[in-house]
Amino acid sequence: MTSATATAAASPNIALIKYWGNRDDALRIPANDSLSFTLSRLETRTQVVFSDDLADDRLIINGSEAEELSRARASSLLKHVRELSGCRSFAQIESETNFPTAAGLASSAAAFAALALAASTAAGLDLQARELSCLARLGSGSAARSIYSGFALLHAGEDHQSSFAEQLFPVSHWPLIDLIAVVESDSKSVGSTSGHQLANSSPLQDARIRDTPRRLDRTRQAIAARDIEALGTICELDSNMMHAVMMTSAPPLLYWSPGSIGLMHRIQRWRAAGDPVFYTIDAGPNVHCITVPEFAGVLEARLSEDAAIEQIFQAPMGEGARLLSN
Ligand code: PMV
Repeated sequence: MTSATATAAASPNIALIKYWGNRDDALRIPANDSLSFTLSRLETRTQVVFSDDLADDRLIINGSEAEELSRARASSLLKHVRELSGCRSFAQIESETNFPTAAGLASSAAAFAALALAASTAAGLDLQARELSCLARLGSGSAARSIYSGFALLHAGEDHQSSFAEQLFPVSHWPLIDLIAVVESDSKSVGSTSGHQLANSSPLQDARIRDTPRRLDRTRQAIAARDIEALGTICELDSNMMHAVMMTSAPPLLYWSPGSIGLMHRIQRWRAAGDPVFYTIDAGPNVHCITVPEFAGVLEARLSEDAAIEQIFQAPMGEGARLLSN
């Protein structure tokens, strides 16, 4: 092979049942199952070119050479692609993202889902969605779920093959909307890769993991019944349990800012008054406000009155990872 190329796009997802902590850090085998839906509008586009002229893998993000840690992370996924395909060349990866990276908007999920699809295709592989999800997981656990549209479940599993994602419900089943309230657009101080390694230092992590099957079961039932009240109650609990683990790890991680907490209070009040909305928060301060399409306009108008909110992204449910023509 002298040169082989492919381009793919993928979007972030928002976890309704979150994973935090790894059973195996090197393979990113999560400590617990997780469930999410994939977003639209926010997107990462990645082109991979394998070329005999390169002496190492290169990573360019939004036009600039990436720092070594990010390059090495992408390179370890490419190493796996080379093992699977027999391709021996290094690759140049060029990635463009249309939303703030590393601010709790799951940029790594979109990035590694797009990279898994572009790199495997460029190397001549035609992987099934399940195998692609395992490959994406090596870069970022949550990326395994961004391979799919609609609601996706990541089985924690025990080894590389059994730790995969699958689609649970298509978008048409219940097209929810994520209104992302950005209360701080600066990069978070502790990224999820280091955060996962602290999870076991919290005395609450075991209890959170043990209770996951129950929360997952309730979440599946609420989605099946399209019951936003039931979904909101269980998903806010799940988000709070993950943050309780974060806050009680050593050292502790406190991702919430005053703006996050103010909005959490307001959303709980709105739901108690009958409005179809709930919150969930990832490893950052920004608040994902989940609602149904009929209420999205009212909610966006309310959020735009909040002085603590710098920016709002309205992200309906979207597609899984897809190939683009070069
Ligand atoms: O995929 P990672 O390593 O960025 O971890 C994701 C962690 C959370 O976003 C906080 C939860 C989740 O399940 O997406």
